[in-house]
Amino acid sequence: MTKNFYITTPIYYPSAKPHMGHAYSSIVSDVIARFKRLDGYKVEFLTGTDEHGLKIQRAAEEKSIDPKIFCDEISKTFRNLSNTLNLSNTDFIRTTEDRHIKSVQNLWKILEEKNQIYLSKYSGWYSVSDEAFYNEDEIKEENGINISINSGSKVEWLEEESYFFKLSAWENKLLKFYEENPKFILPNSRRNEVISFVKSGLKDLSVSRKTFSWGIKVPNNKDHVIYVWLDALTNYISALNYPDTKNLKYKSFWPADIHMIGKDILRFHAIYWPAFLLAADLTPPKRVYGHGWILSGEEKMSKSKGNILDPLEIVDKYGLDPLRFYLLKEVSFGNDGSITQDKLESCINSDLANNYGNLCQRVISFNEKNCNLIIPEKNNFEKEDLNLLNKISDNINSLRSYIDNQELSSYTNFIVDRLFDANKYFNDQEPWKKKSDIMRLNTIVYVSLEIIRKISILLNPIIPETSLKVLEVFNLKLKDINFESIINHESLKSNSKIKKIDILFKKIEKND
Ligand code: MSP
Repeated sequence: MTKNFYITTPIYYPSAKPHMGHAYSSIVSDVIARFKRLDGYKVEFLTGTDEHGLKIQRAAEEKSIDPKIFCDEISKTFRNLSNTLNLSNTDFIRTTEDRHIKSVQNLWKILEEKNQIYLSKYSGWYSVSDEAFYNEDEIKEENGINISINSGSKVEWLEEESYFFKLSAWENKLLKFYEENPKFILPNSRRNEVISFVKSGLKDLSVSRKTFSWGIKVPNNKDHVIYVWLDALTNYISALNYPDTKNLKYKSFWPADIHMIGKDILRFHAIYWPAFLLAADLTPPKRVYGHGWILSGEEKMSKSKGNILDPLEIVDKYGLDPLRFYLLKEVSFGNDGSITQDKLESCINSDLANNYGNLCQRVISFNEKNCNLIIPEKNNFEKEDLNLLNKISDNINSLRSYIDNQELSSYTNFIVDRLFDANKYFNDQEPWKKKSDIMRLNTIVYVSLEIIRKISILLNPIIPETSLKVLEVFNLKLKDINFESIINHESLKSNSKIKKIDILFKKIEKND
């Protein structure tokens, strides 16, 4: 039976070009998608752009461009970013596509039929930048401007006719849902935040706007456009051909296994989205993971501070795999983390060049000199050999559970520890002193090659390009590798040829 897995990134606002925060949400999702694929799952991996709403309309107006043309342009840069980041997404959705519009209008109709939506009047605070409504106690005045306490963005007073979703009726049902699904929201600290917010009382949610037009029209009332978050969240099922819930794609992949998002958009995903779905008699996703923020140095990135990190510039300067590795290794997953040039360079030098690069280089050149680039016959494994090899195979289920619980730092640190073990093993075994005991020398080389194979498979979801370069040494391509094979200590065929390898990561000269 095929095992299916569905993971999504947030869909990005094409109001400006992509920055490091977007790249981060996408890269961590890609790591999980690639791991599950390696572990035999059929993976649907969705990303895309969120193109409606006042924020986009205003951004287009500023440039005096029609919003659709504006979105066409910037959406392309997000699509290109997916290539630059080597994302393995299987789909890219735009909320201006027909398949999505049809899906949102259908969901609306069902909510209306089920008596979950009513027409009334909204008066309250709204942040265009967050596309979010705020309560009086969630805003404050700063320098004569009203802002959201949480996001710091400007809020405006809004008064207009609006449709409302009966969110208040879902308070207890949501709390019950969180209790019955303790891992619906991760990490736990964020789950607690959501639960206390819901317990403090939910008000009905305004789900349409009348004073601008850039959005999906409310069926049967063309004066209103659907609230951009109800529109945007639905992308996750539009991509599975909703409203056709009988089709194979929907049946295979819904409910989603993970919606990967940043902590700032948790409320929409962990409160509104399951409420909309439950109200429409649809199943909520299995997991919403709210990751932390990427800071530029110690500060939040912002246009006004001029400290926006551009992922393309970093990739150009340092390469993609170093960036992917850095984000996984140096940001404690779930918490905020920062990027500085200095830390990135140190990470490249120590973990990638000295640890992984050096291991591959020295073992393969030793093989070249002593075994003519042939995988040698091995003798019986000794205790040290088995200790090294078993540390990976004995942990296969912990590794799976790290990924399934999104403990991405534990997964990455596990690999880094194994790299240290492997380098130490090669040093301690001193194969260069075993020329008189060729059987032992051969076994050490065999074990070292095996460990490189296993570690490269573990690294594949994080640094796909480099790990495949290394696996190529053994003539292995992506289609030939699978996660389960890290159990096998004798996967490499003795007497077969291996290839030489170029330097994997160049060390960076640092000025300190
Ligand atoms: N369009 C909405 C999401 C709709 S999903 C149905 C949106 N878009 S966004 O472009 O503003 O942000 C997309 C993602 O990028 C969010 O998960 C957000 O948390 C993430 N990041 C934006 N800045 C970030 C950092 N500085 N660091 C890490 N991620 C942050 O919200």
